[in-house]
Amino acid sequence: MNDSKYKEKLEQLKDNPGIIFGLLYPYIIVIILGVGLYYLPLISKVTQQKVPPVISEPLVVADLTVQKPRTIPPVDVFEISKPTPELIAKGEALYKTTCASCHGEEGAGAGPASVGLNPAPRNFTKKEGWTNGETISGIYMSLQDGIANSGMIAYDFLTPEEKFGLAHYIRSKFITDPPVDDEMELFGLDILYDLSAGLNIPGQMPTEFAMQLIAEKHEYKFDKIYAAIEDINTDKDSKTSQLLKSITDDLQLALSALENSDIWRGSQDSFVRFLTTNVNQNGFNGKIFNLNNEEWDTLYNYLISAL
Ligand code: HEC
Repeated sequence: MNDSKYKEKLEQLKDNPGIIFGLLYPYIIVIILGVGLYYLPLISKVTQQKVPPVISEPLVVADLTVQKPRTIPPVDVFEISKPTPELIAKGEALYKTTCASCHGEEGAGAGPASVGLNPAPRNFTKKEGWTNGETISGIYMSLQDGIANSGMIAYDFLTPEEKFGLAHYIRSKFITDPPVDDEMELFGLDILYDLSAGLNIPGQMPTEFAMQLIAEKHEYKFDKIYAAIEDINTDKDSKTSQLLKSITDDLQLALSALENSDIWRGSQDSFVRFLTTNVNQNGFNGKIFNLNNEEWDTLYNYLISAL
């Protein structure tokens, strides 16, 4: 490159520094290609995940608690709507542990947990503004269904007796001249919440425990199926083994189908019916239709004890 051309280039470069990329372009391509060729044989290793997957802290969600199934006895609305000292005492104890945090020990709605609640918890000592009202049926309804769009959740898990107790306590302690429910209101409450029918509340157990039980049950089933298969393979010359092998295309599937169902266990008739329907789906084959009575006997007796 002679001097003047060199200077010319230098001038160009000063005016437009981007030009340097144009000059270096061929070299960059060669470098990229080189790196690419180097890694090509290693591609399977490069794409493998080298960093162990990070398992983030599991979100801890409270599981269900164990609860026995409960039957809540029917209540006589007309009886339980009379405030007895026992009902009021029950209501008082529950009020202090469950409600006073918001509604306050004195029922004026200024409990420590009421801060920032909009609407504020009901001040029971004031007559204005009630949604469902100060009657027993009104308070019962507020407890059963909650008050929409407010901090007042539904306390439907309380028993009817507890809800009546709370209503009696609130009315006797905080409300002056509480209005009396008429017969229609009480009757309506009974109809609305099936109070005279009583309630059956199913039991519950933690999901984790339930899943463990299911897993154990499955494991137990697998054990039985594999034991039977081993038995059949070990004793392969026995009449039962030969029979089972001849009538099944997939022995494991056939045994699983049997293990997973109880309808065939009752009698040999139901056993025959079970095996001769859905023959192929259950891992059996058409030879099953040629079995004689004695062979059915043998099979049934073997399978009922094995599975
Ligand atoms: C988290 C705070 C909170 C707790 C705990 C709470 N409440 Fe409330 N309660 C409220 C709020 C908020 C309202 C709605 C006020 C409104 O609608 O203006 C309300 C309203 C009520 C009403 C009035 C319904 C009406 O007709 O206006 C009753 C009765 C009531 N609660 C009873 C109870 C009882 C009994 C308990 C305990 C089992 C309880 N509350 C627990 C916040 C609470």
